[in-house]
Amino acid sequence: MTENKGYEARGAGKDTGDCMGRVSTSAPGKCILFGEHAVVYGQPAVAVAIGQRISVSIETLKGNSETWKIDGMKFDPKRHPHVQALRNRLWQPKQGAPNLSIRVIGDIPPASGLGSSAALSVAASAALRVARGRWYNSAELRDSMAWSEGYSSQFEQEGVYSIENCELNAHRDGDAGKSVHYVSDESVVDLDECALLAHAVEAIAQGGRASPMDASTCAHGGIVLLSDTLESEEDFLYSRRLKIPEGEIEWHLHSINLPKSAEEVYLVIGNTGIHAPTSKQVAKVAAAMKNNPQRMKEIETIGVIARRGIKSLKEGDFAAVGRAMTENQIMLQGLGVSCPELENLIRAAAPTSLGAKLTGAGGGGCMVALTTNPKQTSEAIELAGGRTLISRFGNAGLSIDETENLPLWDTKPNV
Ligand code: PMV
Repeated sequence: MTENKGYEARGAGKDTGDCMGRVSTSAPGKCILFGEHAVVYGQPAVAVAIGQRISVSIETLKGNSETWKIDGMKFDPKRHPHVQALRNRLWQPKQGAPNLSIRVIGDIPPASGLGSSAALSVAASAALRVARGRWYNSAELRDSMAWSEGYSSQFEQEGVYSIENCELNAHRDGDAGKSVHYVSDESVVDLDECALLAHAVEAIAQGGRASPMDASTCAHGGIVLLSDTLESEEDFLYSRRLKIPEGEIEWHLHSINLPKSAEEVYLVIGNTGIHAPTSKQVAKVAAAMKNNPQRMKEIETIGVIARRGIKSLKEGDFAAVGRAMTENQIMLQGLGVSCPELENLIRAAAPTSLGAKLTGAGGGGCMVALTTNPKQTSEAIELAGGRTLISRFGNAGLSIDETENLPLWDTKPNV
């Protein structure tokens, strides 16, 4: 397979004899430079893939195990809603899918605004997709137009994100009368599909309000720009639409090329250690907007700051990027999504950094400082009580790290 799907395939395809079958994948976390919360209402935002990653390994269970296992324990769908939602879409037992053992490891702290659940969802969707292979309408055209089954073969349909479509999407439902063709190697993984699946499960977990920012950044890596318009100067990825309680929102996603000067700056992430569920924070902003629709102006101002920051980012003017981040923080404070612990770490980082703000939903979780002195900034944040991670710009997105004895679920006999 020569087609470039945009993810890394490291050591894929090793055949090791009597192994029942295994797939390992990984995806990075993310941090947000500009625009969290406002992006839910369609304003522009920028997220960066960080160096920290989540790895997912799946193996078919030997014998007749009655359930899935996760990290050696019985799988509890309530504790792992993202994995369960993906299982509904790609791996339904009632269609004969074998039980799996799944292992999740990584260095992205959970529930901290660093996209750990999106990274898990992207990596798990890729693992399940490569494990089951894919049906195509033609042997030659391996692109989404030729898919005869797969989540994003439903791209244009209404309610694509709704849970009602689970069963439909798990079936091979190719165009009647066309000859179909089955492929079971790592090339069947499609970044757009993984990002879409991850966004779908995030939307469910966040009570219907979720931008595709985390999912797309964890899938594609690098720097991802979400905008309310098509940005002619950026590499266009795709558009996404989602009905949220406030109306239908459309995002146009792009990949931003890194300026050379990005090699000189670092992101120092400071974790407050406080867990604040994204859904609660998103609902808090929604309630504020409902109580006083005039406050939508604050959301729009975040959009203006983000646009300024994006321009500076592309010009490689990181001093101006930092200033825009700090201004963005002032607006987030006003929205009520910061907290004293985040403010404490942001204050500690300020003297040695170009700018600092919370990243993600806020209320706890992490802040991020842009700095040319990562050691000093990290020490200042640690002294103030935060735990730090240091990341550069330009980290890789989804990677297929290992495959053995594919497919893990052979859907071929059902043709
Ligand atoms: O805290 P995180 O990593 O889930 O990021 C949330 C970002 C929000 O803008 C608050 C929500 C969203 O869906 O974009």
